[in-house]
Order: sequence, then structure tokens, then C-alpha cells
Amino acid sequence: MKLIVAVDETWGIGKNGDLLLSIPDDMRYFREKTRRAVLVMGYNTLLSFPNGKPLPNRMNLVLADIEGVVAPGTVICDSMEQLFSIIRDMNADDIFVIGGGYTYRQFLPYCDTAYITKMRFSGDADTFIPNLDELEEWRVEETSEEREHEGVKYCFVTYVNDAPKPVGFSAKKSDMPRYFVKKEPVTIALRDHAAQRLREDEKALLHAYFRPLERGVGAEEVAAFLSEGDGDFEAYLLRHRLIADENTVKAMNRPDEAHSDEACSDEAALRVTIGKEKLALFDEYAQGRLSAAALAERCR
Ligand SMILES: NC(=O)c1ccc[n+]([C@@H]2O[C@H](COP(=O)([O-])OP(=O)(O)OC[C@H]3O[C@@H](n4cnc5c(N)ncnc54)[C@H](OP(=O)(O)O)[C@@H]3O)[C@@H](O)[C@H]2O)c1
Repeated sequence: MKLIVAVDETWGIGKNGDLLLSIPDDMRYFREKTRRAVLVMGYNTLLSFPNGKPLPNRMNLVLADIEGVVAPGTVICDSMEQLFSIIRDMNADDIFVIGGGYTYRQFLPYCDTAYITKMRFSGDADTFIPNLDELEEWRVEETSEEREHEGVKYCFVTYVNDAPKPVGFSAKKSDMPRYFVKKEPVTIALRDHAAQRLREDEKALLHAYFRPLERGVGAEEVAAFLSEGDGDFEAYLLRHRLIADENTVKAMNRPDEAHSDEACSDEAALRVTIGKEKLALFDEYAQGRLSAAALAERCR
């Protein structure tokens, strides 16, 4: 995961909801770096774009903690957990955190690279990011030659973090059940397609998430499955489509033509909510803290 930002001498990044200064060369740099990338931003940053519209040709993931917010062409996430659940199968190199201050601060520990445009002036900012020169884990890898725009000198500096935190949870085996027990309810904002326009793979994902809510998981059935030695708990969940397999999640998140700006035009984001059912117990089972028999007994 990477971060890209323009800062002034005080590590200020914005004022009154806007940038401190717009340098065309820096805009070009931003476009090049984030070409076809997945962008992560806070809601205020989305609002700061022309007409509050997402940036074209890139998947725009927007964090917003506001009830009912709908932003055409974006995927709205109401927590970091939800955002991590969407990006978990993506290539971390394709993901760029693009602001603003609140969002940079939350994601900084997860980023391995920060592209900082350093502008030599003070813009009397009201929004800041931490000074990377003062953070032990960050070091400068590369600095460009100095340039100038309307009397303001600036350069592009690449910082690297040698020990970034791993992104959220992964789709790895023992973590899958945990996804269901992490939060209740879990809300997943799918791209803004009306239900009838859902692609097949999106339908599959939707279905996969809905099933636990519809019928729960039969503990005895699980126990029987496990005792037959046909596979582990995750295999059970996958076989019964109680969780989405990695390919489904990948397919759904692929930034392909079907997810072009046109496809994501004016429709409201579709949100689905799942409950945790009895999966906390299965989580205990997955961690070896509960036997199959105890699992069946407790879920009866
Ligand atoms: N210089 C640059 O390169 C650059 C780049 C981008 C933006 N900016 C500037 O930065 C400023 C905006 O920054 P900002 O700090 O005000 O806002 P921001 O980070 O863009 O957005 C904050 C919003 O996102 C929501 N949000 C963030 N994390 C969340 C989470 N984990 N869960 C749920 N919601 C979450 C917040 O909701 P709640 O408050 O309700 O929690 C809040 O509504 C503007 O001036 C903009 O121009 C500068």
C-alpha cells in the first residue's frame, strides 16, 4: 500500500477543504503514479474534487461514517475493517492512499512507500500529516531535482517504511471465520449497480454472504463433515458457499471494463448486511479451543 501527498514546509496539506497549492507538474506526477490504481480516500477529499466526483479510470474507495451517504462511482466503506475486506486480495502495490489528513494518519503504518511532493512555502494549513523525517520507521529513498512553479520551489521525495503493518486480515484460512464475527452487522457496499444489473460474480458474492443469515450453519452437519475428514472448517464453509472463495472476491474487485465510470454512473450504492450467527463458536473451533463435539453441543 502506498501513499501520495503534497506537503508544505510544515507538513501542511490543505486549508478550508482545499489544496494549499495546485502545481500542474505535481498533478501529472499524481496521475502517472496512480494510473489504474485503487484509490483510498476520506469523504472530505472526495468532496474536494471537481463536483465531488471520483477520479476516472481508477477504483475509488471512500471512507465515510455518515449514514446513508451515496457517492456514484465509488465504493463507500464505513470502517477500515470494511475497506480492508475489499482490498485484501488485491496487489498492495496497486493501492494508493490519497488523503486527506485524517485518512493519511490512519493508513500511514500500513504503507510501505510514500510519494511526498515537498513544496518550499508555508500555506497556513489547517490539515496536516505527520512529519516523516521525525518517524523512525521512515527513511528517504530518493529525491528528485528541485523544480519551480510560480516562485515556489518543490521536489518529489520517495520515503520507504521497512516494516509496514500487514493490511487488515487476509483471506488466509484461519482468518476467514473471523471475518464473520468481527463486527455485527457487517455491511458490504457493493459497487453501485441496481440489483438487476449485478454481474454474475457479484451475485455469487452476495449470495455467499447472505447464506449464513438465511439459514445459519448447522453445527451438527459441520461436526459430521469434520469427523469424516473431508476437509477443515474453511472447506466446509466453501463447499456450502457460506463464504466467498478467493476467486470470487478477486473477480468482484477487478477494476475492469464492467467497472468503468460509465458502469458506475448514477445509481445508488447497494449495501448488504450479514449477521454473525453462530460463527463465533466456529472461530473458537478453528483456533483449536473447542472440539467438534463441543461445537455441535454448544450450537444445538
Ligand atoms: N496535499 C494533498 O496532497 C492532499 C490530498 C488529499 C486531500 N488533501 C486535503 O486534505 C483536506 C481533507 O482532509 P480531512 O482530514 O479533512 O478529511 P479526509 O481524510 O479526506 O476525510 C475525512 C472523512 O472521512 C471519513 N473517514 C475517514 N476514515 C474513516 C474510517 N476509518 N471510518 C469511517 N469514516 C472515515 C470521516 O468520517 P468521520 O469524521 O465521521 O469519522 C470524514 O467524514 C482537504 O483540505 C484536502 O484538500 C490534500
